Amino acid sequence: MFYYADYSGELMRQQNKLVSDLEKAINGEYSAIQCYAKLAERAPTDKVRERIREIRRDEKRHLQVFSQMYTNLTGSQPKPKDTEACPDTYLRGLEFALEDEQETVDFYLTVADETSNLFVKDAFRRAAADEQNHAVWFLYFLMSAK
Ligand SMILES: [Fe+2]
Ligand SMILES: [Fe+2]
Repeated sequence: MFYYADYSGELMRQQNKLVSDLEKAINGEYSAIQCYAKLAERAPTDKVRERIREIRRDEKRHLQVFSQMYTNLTGSQPKPKDTEACPDTYLRGLEFALEDEQETVDFYLTVADETSNLFVKDAFRRAAADEQNHAVWFLYFLMSAK
């Protein structure tokens, strides 16, 4: 009996951690969507603008997947908050985006490692691969802009 209770306590702890990680991921995706709209407006060429918009569409997809997971786990809709201050200039915006994407890769891979739920693991791994790709694009834009 003791082990049984202990085990369910561990599951509960894991579940709570996942919900708070999802909240953080949802706020991050939501903030990136706001920030990349601003960044796209300031893009120097149509080609860069279109690429940033494509990245933004990936973030919208991530937001949808994570929100659905959140709702499945908690039974309620997430309330995304814009938690990051998006810089006003194109260059500073790129630097900010590059750093944010790289941190997000680490964060998502950690979440993927920590969960035993294969669906969650797969979703965070896929999103991490997208963020890695975004980081490379932002690095490229940054190099081209300087
Ligand atoms: Fe994303
Ligand atoms: Fe991203």
